[in-house]
Amino acid sequence: MSLNQSHQELPIVRTIAELRQQVKAWRQQGLTVGFVPTMGALHQGHLSLVEIAAEHADKVVVSIFVNPTQFAPHEDFDAYPRTEVSDAAALASTPASLIYAPNAREVYAENHSTKISVDGISEGLCAATRPHFFGGVALVVTKLLLQCLPDIAVFGEKDYQQLLVIKRMVRDLNIPVDILSGPTLRDPDGLATSSRNAYLSEAERKIAPTLHATLQETAEIIRSGAPVDRTLEEAIQRLSAAGFDPIDYLELRSGDDLTPLTTYQGPARLLVAARLGDTRLIDNIAV
Ligand code: PAJ
Repeated sequence: MSLNQSHQELPIVRTIAELRQQVKAWRQQGLTVGFVPTMGALHQGHLSLVEIAAEHADKVVVSIFVNPTQFAPHEDFDAYPRTEVSDAAALASTPASLIYAPNAREVYAENHSTKISVDGISEGLCAATRPHFFGGVALVVTKLLLQCLPDIAVFGEKDYQQLLVIKRMVRDLNIPVDILSGPTLRDPDGLATSSRNAYLSEAERKIAPTLHATLQETAEIIRSGAPVDRTLEEAIQRLSAAGFDPIDYLELRSGDDLTPLTTYQGPARLLVAARLGDTRLIDNIAV
């Protein structure tokens, strides 16, 4: 393990062996372990998950790994922000105990050939435009969980479909970890914090909060009993007029298993993905 110079900095490990050694040592001391997987470029949303993990476990491991298998060739894998030094600095003032930052070769053997697909719940919504995405997420999250072997792992509601895919997969594969979730952290104007917000131009950043505002208005109208289809169509028109193009989806789904809903009859989830310039933004709220 390479301990950094300042005692305030967190240790960073880069191999599965070092990670397991540390986790094993904690277990021998009777300590529980929480895990927060990330792709780095950390913001307050990520840090809020670390706080939640620390409420449920004695030690918290944060992984930073930009996972190549969840990006399609035309997507932003190369451009994805990599800011390990400032990420480590941000984590130093959280209850995190260890950073796990493996390279791609450590995570994926050269001839790796195993795939994980979680049917049903990982179809539609984000998968409609990113068909490779949940396969890549399911694979890397399984691998990261098995590498770390935590008691609990925390994921954000910001990526609601991802959260449900991971919960389903962990249940189906009997992976011995409790999956917890954290609410979406937002900037004061309502925009969900995201590593990809850094891509937005000044003008786009001003438009971006319309996404959350539209979700809130639409949820209110649906709650008041207006027809779901027409309400969603009108909301799509509002987003389009604000400058979002294309709008990949705006849908009302069951909050439990993402079943599409054409009428509102109690707890549901309103989910949206839309592009602003070159940046794809997603958000969702409970209805
Ligand atoms: P990443 O986008 O870095 O997000 C890491 C975790 O932070 C995810 O659980 C995500 O839902 C959560 N998160 C992101 N923005 C948030 C916000 N504004 N409020 C609360 N939580 C937020 O999601 C991934 O990475 C990857 O797909 C990963 C699960 C690490 C697999 O590679």
